[in-house]
Amino acid sequence: MSDAHDPHGAHAPEPAEISNPFLWTAGLIVICGFLIWLFFHFLGEGRVAVRGTSRVKIHDTKQVEPDHAALAADRSPEVIEHGQQLYVKNCASCHGMDGNPVPGAGSGGVPPRNFNKDAFKNANGGGPFGIYSVISHGYGTMPAILSVPQDGRYAIAHYIRETWVKTNNAANYIEQDKVPLPKGGGDAEAVKQYPPNEQPAPAALHPLMRVVSNQAQADRQRMSSWLAAAETSSDSDVARDVRAFGRLIERRQHLAGELYGAARGHERDRFIALVTAADSPGTDSSGFALMSHARLAAVFTQVEKAAGADR
Ligand code: HEC
Repeated sequence: MSDAHDPHGAHAPEPAEISNPFLWTAGLIVICGFLIWLFFHFLGEGRVAVRGTSRVKIHDTKQVEPDHAALAADRSPEVIEHGQQLYVKNCASCHGMDGNPVPGAGSGGVPPRNFNKDAFKNANGGGPFGIYSVISHGYGTMPAILSVPQDGRYAIAHYIRETWVKTNNAANYIEQDKVPLPKGGGDAEAVKQYPPNEQPAPAALHPLMRVVSNQAQADRQRMSSWLAAAETSSDSDVARDVRAFGRLIERRQHLAGELYGAARGHERDRFIALVTAADSPGTDSSGFALMSHARLAAVFTQVEKAAGADR
C-alpha cells in the first residue's frame, strides 16, 4: 500500500481484531441446541395435533367433593351476581342472555333448555344440585363444562333458578333438591385419568383377556419348541437355514400359524410358497426368496419332522 493512497498517515495502527473462538463455539452450540429443541418440541406438538387429543398425563386426581349442603343453601346476592358473570361467560352462547335459548344452538335438533318455561329432565331434577350435576357431567347433547369451578357451578344454578325459573317458570321451581346431596369434603376418591386411547379395559373383560393371553403364550411356546427341535436334529448347514427360518417367523408372526400348519400337514409346496413370499428382499432378508428349491426342501423336511415329533 503506498502512502499516496493513505489519507490518514503512513502507518496508522491496524485496529485489533476482536474475536473470541471460545465464545463463537459456545454460541454456536447454544444456537444448535435451541434449534434441536425446537425441532423435537414441535414434532411432539405435531403428533398430539395429528392424533387430535390433548396431551394428557396419567395421574391420580383427588376428587374432593365440595360442601354441597352449604353451597346449595347459599343464595345470597353476591353468589347470584357471581353466578351471572359465570353464566354470561359459559352458558349464554347456547342458553341465551335472558334464559331463552339461542336459535340454532345445540346439536342433533335438540335445542338448549329454555329456563323460562321448560322442565328439567335430568335424574337429579332442577334444584341447585341438579343443575350442578348437569354442569359437572353434561346432559344429553350438552357437554360437561368443567372449566367452571365447583362453587361457581352452584352460583350459576342459583342465578338461573332465582332469575328465571322462580319467576317465569314457577311450576318447575323446587325449593330445594329432592335427592340426597353427596357428603362434602373428605370422602375423596382417587380418580385415575387416562388419555382416551389408553383407558384401562373394564374388569368384566379381564377373564377373557387372560384366556387370550394364555393362548398366545401357549402358541409361542409351541412354536419355539418346534423350531428348537428342528434346529437340533439337522446338520449344520440345514440348521443354519432353520435358524433363519425362525427369524423369519419372528418378523412375520401372522404367518407362523400357517407355516406350522403346513409343516404338520405335510404340505411342502404350500410351505415353500409361503416362505419365499414372506421373505422380502432387503436388509432384513433371510435369503429364502433366492434360495434353491433343494435347500428349501431340506428346511421343510426338518420342520416337518419336528412338527410331527412335537406333541
Ligand atoms: C354448547 C351449547 C350449550 C352450552 C354452552 C350450555 N348448554 Fe346447557 N344445554 C344445552 C342443550 C342442547 C341442552 C339440552 C340437552 C338435551 O336435552 O339433550 C341443555 C340442557 C341444559 C339443562 C337442562 C338439563 C335437564 O335437566 O333437563 C341445564 C340445567 C343446562 N343445560 C344448564 C347449562 C349451564 C348452567 C350452562 C353453563 C355452565 C350450560 N347449560 C351451557 C346446550 C348447552
